[in-house]
Amino acid sequence: MVKADGYGLGMEDVVRTLESEAPWGFGVATVEEGLRLRRAGVTIPVIVFSPVSPDSYDPAVAQDLTLTVSDLDSVERVAAAATRTGHIGRFHVEIDTGMGRSGFDWRRVAEWGPDLADRASPASIWEGCYTHFHSADLEDDGPTRAQWESFNSALKRLAPEKGSLIHSCNAAAAMRYPTFAADAVRPGIFLYGGCVGKGVAPPEEAARVRARVTLIRDVPESTTLGYGATYCSSGNERWATLGIGYGDGFPRVLGNRGNALLAGQKFPIIGRISMDMTVVDITGAGGVEVGDAATLIGTDGDGVITLDEVADLAGTISYEILTGFTARMPRIWITE
Ligand SMILES: Cc1ncc(COP(=O)(O)O)c(C=O)c1O
Repeated sequence: MVKADGYGLGMEDVVRTLESEAPWGFGVATVEEGLRLRRAGVTIPVIVFSPVSPDSYDPAVAQDLTLTVSDLDSVERVAAAATRTGHIGRFHVEIDTGMGRSGFDWRRVAEWGPDLADRASPASIWEGCYTHFHSADLEDDGPTRAQWESFNSALKRLAPEKGSLIHSCNAAAAMRYPTFAADAVRPGIFLYGGCVGKGVAPPEEAARVRARVTLIRDVPESTTLGYGATYCSSGNERWATLGIGYGDGFPRVLGNRGNALLAGQKFPIIGRISMDMTVVDITGAGGVEVGDAATLIGTDGDGVITLDEVADLAGTISYEILTGFTARMPRIWITE
């Protein structure tokens, strides 16, 4: 899955990196993302894993993107786009087993199943079926097992027309339920360094977030800091200003809560985070200089601030932290 600009890391670079693993295809969320992959020279299958607006079908089919369908109208739209563009329309049928946001209801196969194959014209191909687990990262395996059973029950009732490619697993499910792997898995967050639940091996670090120290100030007692003056020095302190703020996607909620590493040592973020600046208290630390790189996510020497630790502190999930970084943050790729 490389949607949302490759989980914020930069879709084209992510794809270039993953291509050496020879994936069957790439998963995106919008037609525009799929077209971007085609413009980047991707020739393998690209599946658009969300319902899309009616006017997106023609450009998608014209560029050989595979659509996912959640209702019979969408099946007809793929077929019509295929006829209009002269390209083969490909689609995967989403079967909703509890996620609720999209997909055909697994309990109502009798209502939509028989019509489905009829609505696909000879110009379009029903390539596969999939479902999406809502709780594969949780310790309780009950919901995921139940969804798997519902999925299979629907598939049995669809035979023999259902496409040949069956898939269900996101990263958490691929790691925790390998027997549900079927024909393909759709890993996302684990590839980008996010944990997929307790009891599963943690991922390797994939990305670091760093910012330069742009200013160091020695301040006396009672110096206030930041909007709302939510921090005030309790004695002589040394503060380092970092060139990163919420305008870069670094969560504002980490003010007076998060940390930064400098030379492998952890220092607290003090005061509110501004749009462009974040301040850390480096009192007592020797050797920090303007121009040094502070690490806000990732390892630095013996120190580490994990992506999931930052997400927890910010009251969110790793996905939102990664996809929240804005265009102002340069993505620098290091190949080893
Ligand atoms: C349909 C679908 N499959 C797979 C994934 C990948 O999920 P994850 O990043 O949890 O591995 C997503 C992401 O939300 C998705 O929407």
